[in-house]
Amino acid sequence: MKKSENLMETLTGLCKRRGFIFPSSEVYGGINGFWDYGPLGAELKKTIKEAWWKNMVQDRDDIVGIDSSIVMHPRVWEASGHVDSFTDPMVDCKECKSRYRADKLQEYREELGKKGKAEGCPSCGGELTEARKFNLMFKTFVGPVESEASVAYLRPETCQSIFVNFKQVQTVSRKKVPFGIAQMGKSFRNEVTPRNFIFRSREFEQMEMEFFCQQKDEDQWLDYWKQSRFDWYVEMGVKKEKLRLRQQTPDELAHYAKAAFDVEYEFPFGWQELEGIANRGNYDLQQHSKASGKDLSYFDDEAKEHYMPVVIEPSAGVDRTLLTLLVDAYDEETMENGEERSVLRFHPRVAPVQVGVFPLSKKLAEPARKLAADLRKHFRAFYDDAGAIGRRYRRQDEIGTPYCVTFDFASQEDSCATVRERDSMKQERVSLEGLVEYLRGRFE
Ligand code: GAP
Repeated sequence: MKKSENLMETLTGLCKRRGFIFPSSEVYGGINGFWDYGPLGAELKKTIKEAWWKNMVQDRDDIVGIDSSIVMHPRVWEASGHVDSFTDPMVDCKECKSRYRADKLQEYREELGKKGKAEGCPSCGGELTEARKFNLMFKTFVGPVESEASVAYLRPETCQSIFVNFKQVQTVSRKKVPFGIAQMGKSFRNEVTPRNFIFRSREFEQMEMEFFCQQKDEDQWLDYWKQSRFDWYVEMGVKKEKLRLRQQTPDELAHYAKAAFDVEYEFPFGWQELEGIANRGNYDLQQHSKASGKDLSYFDDEAKEHYMPVVIEPSAGVDRTLLTLLVDAYDEETMENGEERSVLRFHPRVAPVQVGVFPLSKKLAEPARKLAADLRKHFRAFYDDAGAIGRRYRRQDEIGTPYCVTFDFASQEDSCATVRERDSMKQERVSLEGLVEYLRGRFE
């Protein structure tokens, strides 16, 4: 089995060609750091978000969900520390004016070194300016007047609305510590150097959960959540040996964090953070209580006392998870007949198309369409009658469809169809009546 020399380039091409992901506003030349999801990408994204929501909210009785607005009161971001501290150090090349993150220069240099280019400034070799702080929040104005008083920010993380709503949500849900509040949705960061396809973009989606517990239990819950989140990626079909948990060093910790672990994945561009699991202490509740003047403490009605719970936060990225699934699933191989095929070996649970349905000949379109309609009630099914059957299989392999069902002339006689499995390419005759059960058994 061989893999493309430049996997990221190959994947970006495949994603565009097959309708997973396109550069945003491409007819105008695109806009750096923004991406659009096409039909297959949108489906995959939805599956990831639903799987996370089910795992974090619906399958448990100690976590509730919210869905809040993206634009919040600007004082939220002062109290959270983002106005002052959510910055990256930035340097400019005095010659070619390219801009870089000062803390990533070594990484860029190594990449250039690997490509056989001279080390030095990553661009043209020119002299760099001193590092300056650059705030990553996107600013906008609310209302018709563009003044300091109407400045607002697009949220750079989804969790702040969980903190400011803590009291309301706790009261209406009648949850007792330990419990969690989950939210997913768009976040925006004016990243200095968006890169590696959708890995670091300027608009992305987060899936965050803030778990409120007592201080004495903080280590136990941090352990629990880091393991639980690691296991989730394995359940989504990601290869275990490509995942690891790494503790952040003190200099890596965000301004609010007491301790943090990253779930990392081995991308073609190195081990990188997929998700952070942080102990935020009671920093955020304290800050918002102080700044708003509203008491956000929790009342323990057994001990009859108020206290600020500690927060353990697993914070994941939808887009990064999606990129991981793509990178992890991509494979190329030479088949027995000497032909090459590229295949996405998605877990059937996440594949955007779960079953392809083909009539062997267009003359069989009617019963095959009916079969596809029946299967669609249970799975994400796709009907295709264009081109030779081998080509139809290849097209489905490339988008990661785990099973294809071919309805042939014999099907009308024996009420069976041929099921072809993506990875082994083995074919099996299965009765139409038992097809749903057959597939369901293989999807678990
Ligand atoms: N509330 C904590 C927080 O936002 P973070 O480590 O800055 O922590 C959490 O972000 C996750 O959000 C990351 O692990 C990543 O999956 C995703 N993420 C952050 N910035 C991103 C970006 N520019 N593009 C895509 N995903 C991003």
